[in-house]
Amino acid sequence: MLFKAALHLHLTSVILFLLLYIVKTYLLVSNKDEQLQKIRKTTRIPEMIISTLFLVTGVYMAFNYPLNVMFWIKMVFVFASIPLAVIAYKRNNKALAVVSLLMIIAAYGCAEMIKKQNAKPITAVATTSVDTDINAHEIYTSNCANCHGEQGNLMLAGATNLQTSTLTQPEMVMQITNGKGAMPAFGEQLNDAQINAVAEYIVTLRK
Ligand code: HEC
Repeated sequence: MLFKAALHLHLTSVILFLLLYIVKTYLLVSNKDEQLQKIRKTTRIPEMIISTLFLVTGVYMAFNYPLNVMFWIKMVFVFASIPLAVIAYKRNNKALAVVSLLMIIAAYGCAEMIKKQNAKPITAVATTSVDTDINAHEIYTSNCANCHGEQGNLMLAGATNLQTSTLTQPEMVMQITNGKGAMPAFGEQLNDAQINAVAEYIVTLRK
C-alpha cells in the first residue's frame, strides 16, 4: 500500500519536474531571458518541494524493491544530469541545458522500461491464476524439485528451504527468471505465466 503511494507520488513529482524543466530549457534556448527569470523566481519553492518529494520517494522505493541493471543506468542519468543542469543555468550554456534535459528524459525512459518489466508478471498473475494449479505443480516437479524437493525443504546444492522463505511474489518471480548464486535462471525455459504460476505454487509449500 505504502509502496504504491510512494510510486504514484514519485511519478507525479517526476512528471511535474520534467514539465518545468522542459519549459525552462525552452526559454533558455530561445533567449527569452526575462521570462526565464520570472519562471525561475515563481517556481523556486514549488520546485524545491517537487524535487524533495521525488528524491525521498525514490530513495524509499530503492530500498524496498529488487534492483536491476536498468535501475543503475537510470541512477547514472539522474545524478549526472543534476551538476550539468546547475552549470548550464549558471553559465547560460544552452547546449549543456539540452544535454541535461535529454539525460533526464532518458532516465524517465529507463523508469518506464523498469515499470514494464515489473508490471508484466504482476498483470499475468491475475489472468492466469485460475487454471494453473496442476500445471504449476508439474512445472515445479520437473524444474525445481531436483534441488528444492517435492516439499520444498530438500535444500540440495545449497538450495534455500522454500517452506521458510519470506520472499514476496515479485521477488520470487525475479529470482526464478534471472537465477541467483547456484540457482539457474528459468527466464528462457518458462514463460511469464508459468513463472508466476510456479511462484504462486511454492507459496503453498510454506509452513
Ligand atoms: C540447481 C538447483 C536449483 C534448481 C533446479 C532450482 N533452484 Fe531455487 N534455489 C537454488 C539455490 C542454490 C538457491 C539459493 C540461491 C541464493 O540465495 O544464493 C535457491 C533459491 C530459491 C528461491 C529463494 C528463496 C528465498 O527465500 O531466498 C526461490 C523462490 C527458488 N529458489 C525457487 C525455485 C523455483 C520455483 C525453481 C524451479 C522453477 C527452482 N528454484 C529451481 C537452487 C535451485
